Amino acid sequence: MSTTAFDNPFTRLPDSQTRLLGVIGHPVAHSLSPAIHNPALAWLGLNMRYLAFPVHPDQLATAVRGFVAMGMLGFNATVPHKEALLPLMDHLEPLAQRIGAVNTVRIDEQGKLHGYNTDAPGFVDSLMESHPLDLPTSNVLLLGAGGAARGVVAGLLEAGCQRITVANRTPARAQQLLHDLAAHYPAAALQAAPLQEELLPMGDYDLLINTTLLGLHGDPSLPLSPQRLPSRAVVCDIVYNPPETPLLQAARLQGLATLNGLGMLLQQASRAFTLWTGQPMPIVEVRQRLLGLL
Ligand code: ATR
Repeated sequence: MSTTAFDNPFTRLPDSQTRLLGVIGHPVAHSLSPAIHNPALAWLGLNMRYLAFPVHPDQLATAVRGFVAMGMLGFNATVPHKEALLPLMDHLEPLAQRIGAVNTVRIDEQGKLHGYNTDAPGFVDSLMESHPLDLPTSNVLLLGAGGAARGVVAGLLEAGCQRITVANRTPARAQQLLHDLAAHYPAAALQAAPLQEELLPMGDYDLLINTTLLGLHGDPSLPLSPQRLPSRAVVCDIVYNPPETPLLQAARLQGLATLNGLGMLLQQASRAFTLWTGQPMPIVEVRQRLLGLL
């Protein structure tokens, strides 16, 4: 029989053996996860598909029971489900418990739900891949105290970071975030601060990470510039679209090393992919394809 386009793993159609993965969110149509996982599955010739499911918060438990009943392998969760998934898990990895958020669920052969947080190590993986700092001796300034900030701070602490200042418009929220994590990392020096440049020792930081959306989508601009950072500093933004935020542009023009959120997106996906398939994600190929889409 001659080879046709249908023999190509990229165009192989689902059949009765196909296993299902997916992402739930509300909304979910903006998610890039299907564009990451489907090419990765196809690249490895795995008979699996990854779909996006818009699940209303009221239907979360019903949807999860349905996923188990249908024999799905697992799924990712995005806003607003990451916190609400916690009590639905049969097993929770300690990191997800500490952060209070699950972004990856694996469903085992017995239909048990295992909850993980791959967002947190995803940031550190991405940073280490591009700018391998010595985290235990690095002094970090992180801007913002929302859900994204919580994951990044937990990832840094887990990787051995000892000095982190969380600066936020509402300092009480930064205090709460650090209070929730401090008990698990007693040796770390953690500080909450107002988001005001003049109150921060900018010249002392090795790493600046922005987790707010300030400066984008017509939001007010970030009340802080990288100008007083030392020349060794690395400046990161968890946004990947646009690839260069106003903060990253200012840092680059100043000659500092920069990192956007694309690597974090890929690395969290890569860890989830391995949890489900037992195989490493072909990250180089996936990154190349994604860059073409963005
Ligand atoms: P996410 O979960 O995506 O991180 P979030 O929980 O809404 O989103 O958090 C948004 C972050 O941006 C918060 O740190 C927020 O500060 P507050 O905790 O004070 O609300 C910050 N933020 C949003 N708009 C801001 C503004 N105009 N000025 C300063 N900080 C702002």
